[in-house]
Amino acid sequence: MMLREREKIVVRLRRLRRSGQLRKLVRETRVSTSDLVQPIFVREGEKVREEVEQMPGVYRMSIDMLVDEAKELEELGVPAILLFGIPSAKDERGSGAYSSDGIVQRAVRAVKSEVSGLVVMTDVCLCQYTSHGHCGIVANGVVLNDITLELLARTAVSHAEAGADVVAPSAMMDHQVAAIREALDNEGFSDVAIMGYSAKFASSFYGPFREAAYSAPAFGDRRSYQMDMGNAREALREIEQDIREGADIVMVKPALAYLDVIARARSRFSTPIAAYSVSGEYSLIKAAASKGWIDERAIALEVLTAIKRAGADIIITYFARDFARWQRGEDI
Ligand code: PBG
Repeated sequence: MMLREREKIVVRLRRLRRSGQLRKLVRETRVSTSDLVQPIFVREGEKVREEVEQMPGVYRMSIDMLVDEAKELEELGVPAILLFGIPSAKDERGSGAYSSDGIVQRAVRAVKSEVSGLVVMTDVCLCQYTSHGHCGIVANGVVLNDITLELLARTAVSHAEAGADVVAPSAMMDHQVAAIREALDNEGFSDVAIMGYSAKFASSFYGPFREAAYSAPAFGDRRSYQMDMGNAREALREIEQDIREGADIVMVKPALAYLDVIARARSRFSTPIAAYSVSGEYSLIKAAASKGWIDERAIALEVLTAIKRAGADIIITYFARDFARWQRGEDI
């Protein structure tokens, strides 16, 4: 027989799929709890744990409840949380974002004083804090870049003062990473890391988040600062720019509809890559599962595996806590 014909016959890829143990040995990508970051919404009040209607299993929590949640996550082996604040008042300049006794600042202090083994990350943006709901200062209907940078830098420094380990600017203002790096270094926080929301697309997948955080823009949309859904090369430019400005971790967001961007970034850059599997990705799975149309756990695992296989080192997901429990064989 000709060698080439023989090869065709000899190679049988099904051999390694014959048993669960064999499949386990040759699996290339495995999601582990230690890859995951749990996003959490924190609000004013005491003993409040208010479920987000569009995101079953996700809550707006007061600081005392957040501390309990953080302890549980630490115990489950989830390495990090990403905090989003829901302030009780908003104004034109988003002053709640950078006030030293703002909701996030107090939340970080509480978690840091009671839970030692969790990385605390904070979202750095103005949109939950501005009366108009945009991510920066608005004048004549335009979101101004450079004035906003000063406020983002103040916000990041106030989070670092409270004890944040990682600050994550999500406003999509040009040079936000550089402005924050400089301010942190000037204030003595050179050890605080920056995770840039580098390639953040203007996406309808953020809908449930904006309900959860009351942060929908009062006029217009975010397309003058967040990226256009069609642009993968531009995403690489955004990521490259953030790396130059000093980002320690870069992010692609959303995840599932942008796996190609994650894969391209992975092949181009050595910087750790985070992928944010956003609110709408979670809500889709929860809604279909509640109708009995899909298997929630199996789909969540498949989606998380796809995000990791595409090249993400870190996955920010609302399933983090549940995934950790599933891994332990616990029912929830
Ligand atoms: C704040 C911010 C948003 C998200 C993360 N940070 C909302 C937005 O840009 O409108 C979305 C996260 C999610 O949908 O889960 N700028």
